[in-house]
Amino acid sequence: MRSETIAIHAGYEPDPATKSVAVPIYQTAAYAFDSADHGAALFNLEAEGFRYSRIANPTTAVLEKRIAELEGGVGALAVATRQAALHFTFVNLADQGGNIVSVPQLYGTTHTLLGHILPRQGILGRFAESDTPDAIERLIDEDTKCVFAESIGNPAGNVCDIEALAKVAHRNGVPWWSTTRSPRRSCSSRSTTAPTSPCTR
Ligand SMILES: Cc1ncc(COP(=O)(O)O)c(C=O)c1O
Repeated sequence: MRSETIAIHAGYEPDPATKSVAVPIYQTAAYAFDSADHGAALFNLEAEGFRYSRIANPTTAVLEKRIAELEGGVGALAVATRQAALHFTFVNLADQGGNIVSVPQLYGTTHTLLGHILPRQGILGRFAESDTPDAIERLIDEDTKCVFAESIGNPAGNVCDIEALAKVAHRNGVPWWSTTRSPRRSCSSRSTTAPTSPCTR
């Protein structure tokens, strides 16, 4: 399917009750359970479905399925800001003792997250001298959980060689994450992407 078609149709079948073609906006916070057992199964993650909008919501679920399909990924998680996406991803990839190797050209608050906030939780941000593959590879060790870049850099305006950086990460058995470019296009099966800007702005 072409990207344009996926962007409009993926992840949604017209609602059988109303036949609505457009994705409905579900404004509910809570969901009804068929029984106490059904509610328990939802909370125990034994049954598929919705239990509370802060955790998942049918409207957001369509967006997540579309993004996953557009990116050729196995799944997606939508959050409200790019800063939240960064935080979620780093703490899911790394725990105490792990490090994230990053290009140095970062948005200010991403730099603060990797350089000051995550280190307090035992996750170390390591900033390479430049955004070249050699500079990145020098910092990778057995505790590296992710190689990370923001490209196009803000405010530097640098454009990273995404394919070369992805190769370095994968050669070292480490997931690669760029905030702007699809892993489908950087030919990788072990990558993460956070194309959140179009959704949050
Ligand atoms: C590269 C980059 N990362 C993160 C952010 C923060 O995004 P948000 O305000 O959605 O948290 C920005 C905002 O401009 C950005 O340019």
